[in-house]
Amino acid sequence: MLMRRRNFLVALALSSSLLVSAIAGCGSNGGTASDGNKLVMATSADYPPYEFFETERGDGKPVGFDIDIATYITEELGYELEIQDMDFNGIIPALQAGRADFAMAGMTPTAERKENVDFSSIYYDAKNTIVAKAGSGFKTYDDLVGKTVGVQLGSIQENEAREKAEEIGNITLESRNKISELIQEMKAGRIDAAIVEDTVAKGYIANNPDLEFTTLDGGEEASGSAIAFPKGSELREKFEAVLQDMKANGTLEALIKKWFEDYYAEQAGE
Ligand code: ARG
Repeated sequence: MLMRRRNFLVALALSSSLLVSAIAGCGSNGGTASDGNKLVMATSADYPPYEFFETERGDGKPVGFDIDIATYITEELGYELEIQDMDFNGIIPALQAGRADFAMAGMTPTAERKENVDFSSIYYDAKNTIVAKAGSGFKTYDDLVGKTVGVQLGSIQENEAREKAEEIGNITLESRNKISELIQEMKAGRIDAAIVEDTVAKGYIANNPDLEFTTLDGGEEASGSAIAFPKGSELREKFEAVLQDMKANGTLEALIKKWFEDYYAEQAGE
C-alpha cells in the first residue's frame, strides 16, 4: 500500500513536469520521426478518462490516461510530442497515410486492424457495456430488440452490435463520430441505448445520474487498449520497451490509479 502511494506521487510529479516540457517543446536528443525530433500522435479525444478536453487541466490540449502514457514514453525516448485530435474512424487512415507516427485512443488490437497497423502489447483492459437511461434495465443484447442502439463509428462496439443485430434481428443501429454525441442523443431520447466500454461508461454515468450501465458478457472477443503504429514502424519496438518499463516500475499502475480510481472518484464528487 505504502509502495503504491509513493509510486503514485512520483508518477504524478513526473507526469505534470513531463507534460510541461512536452508542451514547451524542450525535448532534445536524436530521433528519426516525421519532423526530426517530433512525433505526431493521433487520438480521438472524446474518451474520458483515456483522452478528453478538460478546461482546468488541459489548457486547450487533451488530457488523460493515454496522454500521460504517451508523454512519458516520448520523453523517455527523447522526442517532442504533438497530439492531433480527429474522429476515431480517421485514426487508422491517418497512420497509413503517414500523417501520424503512432496512435493512442483506447484502441483495441483486433485481427482486422492488425492487417493495416502494428500494435504494442495491451496496456489496459476493458469490457463492453450497455449504457441507457436509468431504469431501462437492459442486461443483454436480447433486451435491445425493437430499440435504437448507438455506437461509435469504426469502433469494435460498432462491429459487435452489427453482428448481434444481424443474429437477433429488429435492433436498429445508429453510428456517430463521437461518444459525446451518443450520450446527448440518449439523454434527448433519440436513441435508447449505446454500447460503450466499461472504463468510459463509468465516467459518463458519474456525470449523468440519469443514465445507467450494465456490463456485457464479452465472450472471447478482443478487448483492451494498445498503441498503434504504421505497419513496419521502427518506433513499435522502442515504445514497447518503455511500456514494459512502465509496467515493471509501477508508473503504469500509478497512472491507472490516477485516471481509473482518483479521477472517477472526483467525478462522482467523492
Ligand atoms: N476500444 C474500442 C475500439 O478500439 C473503442 C475505442 C474508442 N476510442 C476513442 N478514443 N473514442 O474500437
